[in-house]
Amino acid sequence: MKEKDKKLTDIIDGMSLEDKALMLTQYPIDSICGNKEIVTGCWDMDGMTNDMIMRVGTVLNVANGETADRIRAIRKENGIDDPLMFMLDVIHGYRTIFPIPLAMACSFDTELVEECARIAAVEAAADGVDATFSPMVDLARDARWGRVMETAGEDPYLGGEMGKAYIRGYHNGGLACCVKHFAAYGAAEGGRDYDTTDVSERNLNEYYLRAYCECVKEKPEMFMSSFNLLNGKPLLAHPELTVDKLRDEWGFDGVLISDYNAVRELNVHGYAATPRDCALTAFNAELDIEMCSPCYANNLPDLVREGVVDEKSLDEKVYRVLKMKDRCGLYDIDKSTDTQKRDKITLCEEFRAAAKKAEERSCVLLKNDGVLPLKKSANIALVGPFADEKYIFGHWASTGRADDVVTVKQGIERTLGRTVESEKGCSYDLLSDDESGFDAAVRFAQNSDVIVACVGEHMYNSGESHSRADIALPKVQTALLRRLKTLGKPVVLVVFGGRPLALTDVLPLADAVLYAWQGGTECGSAIASLLYGDAVPSAKTVMSFPRSSGQCPIYYNHFQTGRPRASGKPAVLSGDICTVGYDDEYNDPLFPFGYGLSYTTFDYSDLKLDKAKMRRDGKIAATVTVNNTGDRDGTEIVQWYIRDKFASVVRPVKELKGYERVELKAGESKTVRFEITKDTLAFFTDGGAFDAESGDFDLFVGGNSRDCLQTGFSLVD
Ligand code: BGC
Repeated sequence: MKEKDKKLTDIIDGMSLEDKALMLTQYPIDSICGNKEIVTGCWDMDGMTNDMIMRVGTVLNVANGETADRIRAIRKENGIDDPLMFMLDVIHGYRTIFPIPLAMACSFDTELVEECARIAAVEAAADGVDATFSPMVDLARDARWGRVMETAGEDPYLGGEMGKAYIRGYHNGGLACCVKHFAAYGAAEGGRDYDTTDVSERNLNEYYLRAYCECVKEKPEMFMSSFNLLNGKPLLAHPELTVDKLRDEWGFDGVLISDYNAVRELNVHGYAATPRDCALTAFNAELDIEMCSPCYANNLPDLVREGVVDEKSLDEKVYRVLKMKDRCGLYDIDKSTDTQKRDKITLCEEFRAAAKKAEERSCVLLKNDGVLPLKKSANIALVGPFADEKYIFGHWASTGRADDVVTVKQGIERTLGRTVESEKGCSYDLLSDDESGFDAAVRFAQNSDVIVACVGEHMYNSGESHSRADIALPKVQTALLRRLKTLGKPVVLVVFGGRPLALTDVLPLADAVLYAWQGGTECGSAIASLLYGDAVPSAKTVMSFPRSSGQCPIYYNHFQTGRPRASGKPAVLSGDICTVGYDDEYNDPLFPFGYGLSYTTFDYSDLKLDKAKMRRDGKIAATVTVNNTGDRDGTEIVQWYIRDKFASVVRPVKELKGYERVELKAGESKTVRFEITKDTLAFFTDGGAFDAESGDFDLFVGGNSRDCLQTGFSLVD
């Protein structure tokens, strides 16, 4: 046990049981008025008096420095010395908004992610925020789930790398952070947010827990427990995860915070009958801070007095919270808002430039029959519900402002140096069937050289509590594209989505598809520079694009069945019965994991290993030549995958083990090197150890998870 800081233990010694319970309570203060009347957030904190609320240890959702300053002053006037800690969801930017995390992950660029997180932290910290609830590293295999937008997609290794990059960035920018939602929140049944998860221990250890565990290495201040039932019990009733795994095995010694109201929801789940039982359950799961429900505040003092919980354990939790505050400098630094400094840095040119670069590296070019990049002289018809829309910056950016956002129309105007017109054609409403704008859109496009159609789902149709049963493009937009297609002109789709949408119906209607996700403040300017070739697309998908909603969940690192379908085609086409798959749908996705085009082309050759056999203490070096075979400079994301052919438990058909962003001038070739050691091959063996097993392995390398060069090697004892 590390020695405790006396400054902090002295504080604890002077606290009453009530003070301690309140230190572990997070209150959702949305604003506090000058007359000292506290205006509560949206959840009822029944039983908590104004005096109790005034004394909580941390607050949520104070979204500006002036309010934070006022709250601090009011607490001082009331004789409360302990520094309040302000927390907020800074997920993809504070005022300068970056692309949604799912999009950012498509850059495979951890340096970029780190820099954007740093900027977000700098802006947030200057406006009074002490900690953010990010990164979210839940594994996302089901595109119907609304929160895939906050994740790094379906690969656990990439998820861990991205999570660590966010943590480094937040820390460099002066913000504490929180890894969430522990655990397996992404496995919600049917992709319905908050729904039940049922995940085997193997699946949990091998896939769902990997990224959380990896993140511990960067020393995040907090972990957040998730809302979901896992294998029949709410997460806060799994001490084998929150205590044995997180604290004892992984060594996380920071603060465990609940999700919003999740302690009280132990009752709604049908697990704990009373608020007191809720408090006790969470306490035994080593939960430190209860977010936005009052079970701790109203029950912990009595639970100690009655001898049901031990005051020492309570003190441990309080100590962890105080230690976090101390680590953030709250006991030493005057945190009042320096408005001059804040206003100078907020949304400055440098930050906008970073946001533009981030979106340029996040947009995935899914299809291009040669129409892109556009000629600047071309007469374009800019159509679609998102052509001049500001709400394209992404769902979880509550402190972002639509007015700051560059629309696609504005971006194109800046790029061309002239004004362009646009026509919506239809609404973005998911269930709209209003075709009354179609004629105007068709008339508008009639004399153009090329149609650029900005379509997709609105940013508020993904994100928390926004799951979808049908993830195709909304019907009215598909109908609009069909009408536009009758003009016989090239059609470029710019698609907005917080998830990979099922684009099967509209793909044949398009000559090119640029998948823009939701791209932050500079979304429109980045899209314009990609459309006109001032920037070259390089991003690769981090979630498989399903052909239809019925394919979900779908992910590249699945297992081989005993009855694989050779053709992968629907049974009605292949006649391939008694094999895995559907009668009426393909098995493979529309676009596989790791897929994305450029304005140039890349060729892979000469995949070589320096040896074919490796001992357990040895290593193999693999090399491949990547050649830019086109006439433009470009960046290729080279991906390395491995398959363990036979093992004590069946291994996935492919697993991402490494990647590299390689910049290549037109015509240039580079040799890319990748090192394989025993650690590269380790997994949770049948015996439970995380280890590599001797045997044969396939190595794949390529520009996506499907089209790869392949070779093999062995691990020998
Ligand atoms: C979300 C968390 C978030 C918290 C605080 C919850 O509803 O699930 O991700 O951090 O609210 O805003």
